[in-house]
Amino acid sequence: MFAVYAAEPNPDAPLDALVVGERPDPEVPDGHVAVHVEAASLNMHDLWTLRGVGIKKEQFPMILGCDGAGRLDDGTEVVIYPVIGDPTIAGDETLDPRRSLLTERYQGTFADRVVIPARNAVPRPAGMTAARSAVMGTAWLTAYRMLFVKSGLRPGQTMLVQGASGGVSTALIQLGRAAGMQVWVTGRSEDKRALAGKLGAHATFASGERLPERVDAVFETVGDATWAHSMRALKPGGAIVVSGSTSGPNPGADLQRLFFLQLRVIGSTMGTRDELANLLTFVTSTGIAPEIGLELPLERAEEGFRAMAAGETGGKIVFIR
Ligand SMILES: NC(=O)c1ccc[n+]([C@@H]2O[C@H](COP(=O)([O-])OP(=O)(O)OC[C@H]3O[C@@H](n4cnc5c(N)ncnc54)[C@H](OP(=O)(O)O)[C@@H]3O)[C@@H](O)[C@H]2O)c1
Repeated sequence: MFAVYAAEPNPDAPLDALVVGERPDPEVPDGHVAVHVEAASLNMHDLWTLRGVGIKKEQFPMILGCDGAGRLDDGTEVVIYPVIGDPTIAGDETLDPRRSLLTERYQGTFADRVVIPARNAVPRPAGMTAARSAVMGTAWLTAYRMLFVKSGLRPGQTMLVQGASGGVSTALIQLGRAAGMQVWVTGRSEDKRALAGKLGAHATFASGERLPERVDAVFETVGDATWAHSMRALKPGGAIVVSGSTSGPNPGADLQRLFFLQLRVIGSTMGTRDELANLLTFVTSTGIAPEIGLELPLERAEEGFRAMAAGETGGKIVFIR
């Protein structure tokens, strides 16, 4: 079948490991279903996979793509839930130490078909397009959990999103606005700040710019480049919710500020299957149109990877099959 995959890990030149070609048709073990992929979205995670981060060398070649939407053999329209855990463990899948994400052990969604455990095929709300459904499973689910499960923010409080145009950032802006937060955003260029404004940000700032007042919570996926600003941005007792570290994972901790102002640093990863179902309901009932910055046929996936690697994001990048 047609597939876009990582041939081998390449830490220094990840795009050299990207192949647009053919992979064997997958088998469907008991308890699993095949999803005929209609749309799939790109995440920074796919670039980490090309670099060999978070995946064992022996798992290559690996079809990329954590997210997607499509149809089962019987025509049922589904959204793919990318976290695969031990089905015998009840409770929060994201806390299962043996959980994996599609493309770590299971082959991914950038292909004609993807095989997943049956519970990972979540019914798609009527009227939600395949492209918009395909962005829900990773970036949007991560943003949903950061905002609604982890941050403790109430409508009316002020949130700062570090980074304007990325997948998680645009989801946070749109979800925060729909939920009644005051949404402030930093962005690296005027274009990116304008996008944040279009998506509902109440105020935008250049990266690192002094804010007019301190905020209740900061949403971090950037890491080293923005961490010091995030720490300075918080009210006493405020929280940084962090789910990524694109620019580097080891910023100075500023422990004195942390304990003196009683700040909280909260880690967050993906979300549960139930949270994905709640997200789908929230998006459809509020009428949010998830921002897709670039839509390409899967055959042209390399253009999408190059745009993301260069930081040229404007919402999610989606591949159509
Ligand atoms: N823990 C989880 O479950 C989880 C889930 C999803 C993503 N993540 C992680 O979260 C991160 C973002 O993922 P994504 O898919 O949203 O990536 P993306 O679409 O490529 O977005 C990257 C974002 O980072 C910002 N950024 C990058 N470098 C920056 C710098 N030097 N200074 C300021 N801002 C910078 C960009 O801001 P501008 O708009 O200003 O350019 C943009 O908003 C990745 O590290 C990813 O691995 C984690």
